[in-house]
Amino acid sequence: MLDAAASKTDVTFNYTEANVGGCAIDAEGVPLPKSTLEICRSSDAVLLACIGGPKWDSNERSLRPETGLLGLRKELGLFANLRPAKVMPELLDASTLKREVVEGVDIMVVRELTGDVYFGTPKGIRINEETDRREGYNNMIYQEHEIERIAKVAFEVARARNSRLCSVDKANVLDVSQLWREVMIQVGEAEYNDVELSHMYVDNAAMQLIRYPNQFDTIVTGNIFGDILSDAASMLVGSLGMLPSASLGASGTPGLYEPVHGSAPDIAGMDMANPIACVLSAAMMARYSLGRPDLADCIEDAVAKTLSSGSRTKDIARQDEKVLGCEEMGECIVRNLL
Ligand code: IPM
Ligand code: MG
Repeated sequence: MLDAAASKTDVTFNYTEANVGGCAIDAEGVPLPKSTLEICRSSDAVLLACIGGPKWDSNERSLRPETGLLGLRKELGLFANLRPAKVMPELLDASTLKREVVEGVDIMVVRELTGDVYFGTPKGIRINEETDRREGYNNMIYQEHEIERIAKVAFEVARARNSRLCSVDKANVLDVSQLWREVMIQVGEAEYNDVELSHMYVDNAAMQLIRYPNQFDTIVTGNIFGDILSDAASMLVGSLGMLPSASLGASGTPGLYEPVHGSAPDIAGMDMANPIACVLSAAMMARYSLGRPDLADCIEDAVAKTLSSGSRTKDIARQDEKVLGCEEMGECIVRNLL
């Protein structure tokens, strides 16, 4: 797809493949080999497929595929995760929600990606001395500077869209969220008076996303709330197989682009997966890391054209529609590159 799009321009891509997650555990004994990290660091951008599967599910934590992905995010400093959920008119009937609810939905979830309960310490499973039974614990923690920098990214993103930013937290219960909210307000007042900032509790946000998604423009939230809400938002679009994402760090460092979905082990090897989430991730890569919005437009237009022509993978097909395999769908999109 990238080569086909590039061939219409002056760009050429040089690819270096590297293992991460399950395949890295199998080939190199660890989920994030040092060589992979070096290759990523010395590249302009990283395009990631997916990482896991039942084969590695019972491994101890340090040898799980997820540990490789989290390590990659942390090591590359990718603190800002952009997850757009934009309903395409051709797919209005693919959502389980009513057409009139999802029509026109265009939301950007900005998820903090290197903090929160995902990385907070102390953590573990230990024996509780009073009960003499096990207890599991993690630490939901945010440093002020971590909230500030994600706030800035989110305000910038909102400003480039419709200038409405909704910060999602649990400030009625959690101290960490209280600080989150205070910092959001501070950053907004200091630098982004033109952006309308609102706040919502995460439980309400989950409900509002399903009830009336069109009220949202840009959402900013912490790592775990963003993980959950972005999966919920995917159903507005019709399928998790449609959602791309960009993970960005400080300027000048390589961004990482990956579909929001996982490895879907239940359909692995069956040529059934929807390639669009990955294809659109490549488009985001052209836009955010390579400074080539023309390439991004070209790929996104080809996806839109493919959908308008009625091509569907199983996850987005209505019962009466013809279903294409993953490869056929990919070929179809390539043919539609202008
Ligand atoms: C995601 C995934 C990951 C996460 C897993 C695979 C570690 O669910 O990218 O949303 O929780 O961040
Ligand atoms: Mg997730």
